[in-house]
Amino acid sequence: MRTAIIYYSMSGNTEFAAEKIAKKLETDVIRIEPVKAYPDKGVKKFFWGGKSAVMGEEPELLPYDFQAEQYDTIIIGTPIWASSFAPPIKTFLSKNRNITDKKIAVFTCFSGGGADKAIEKMRKFIGVDAFLAELILVDPKDKENPENDVMIEEFCRKCEQG
Ligand SMILES: Cc1cc2nc3c(=O)[nH]c(=O)nc-3n(C[C@H](O)[C@H](O)[C@H](O)COP(=O)(O)O)c2cc1C
Repeated sequence: MRTAIIYYSMSGNTEFAAEKIAKKLETDVIRIEPVKAYPDKGVKKFFWGGKSAVMGEEPELLPYDFQAEQYDTIIIGTPIWASSFAPPIKTFLSKNRNITDKKIAVFTCFSGGGADKAIEKMRKFIGVDAFLAELILVDPKDKENPENDVMIEEFCRKCEQG
C-alpha cells in the first residue's frame, strides 16, 4: 500500500500534523503552495484568505509532483478557513478528480469553529460517501496538547487498516 499526504499550511500547524502523520505511516508528502502567496500577517491574513475561501476561489498552484496512479490512499491536510477547506486544496481537488477511486482520509487544523462543516464540504466537493478517517486538531503547533498525539495515533491506525 502506498500513501500520499497532500497538504497546504500557511502558518505551520497543518505542516506540523502532516510531519507527525508522515513519520508514523511512512508516506510521501506533497506540500502545495499557491503561486501568489496569501498575506500571512495581521488583519490582511484573515481578510484575504477568508475572502478567497468564501468566494470559492481556486488559486493557481506552484508545480507539484503527484501521480494519482502511484497511490491507493490519499491523505488531505488543510487548515480551516472561514468554515471551509483552504482554497489551494480546492484547486488540488479540482485538478485531481481522478482520486475518487482511492481511499481518502482528511486531517484539519483550526482554532475552534467550523471544522465539521468544512470536512462535509470537502466530502461533497470530492464526491465520496465517506472518508477513511477524519482528524480535527486545534492549532497543534501553537497550542501543545498531549491528546493530539493520541488522536494522531488513532487516525494513523485507521489509515493503515484501510
Ligand atoms: C484566512 C483564515 C481563516 C480562518 N478561518 C477559521 C475558521 O473559520 N475557524 C477556525 O476555527 N479557525 C480559522 N482560522 C484559523 C486556522 O484554521 C488555524 O489557525 C489553523 O491551525 C492554521 O493552520 P496552518 O498553521 O497550517 O496554516 C483561519 C485562519 C485564516 C488564516
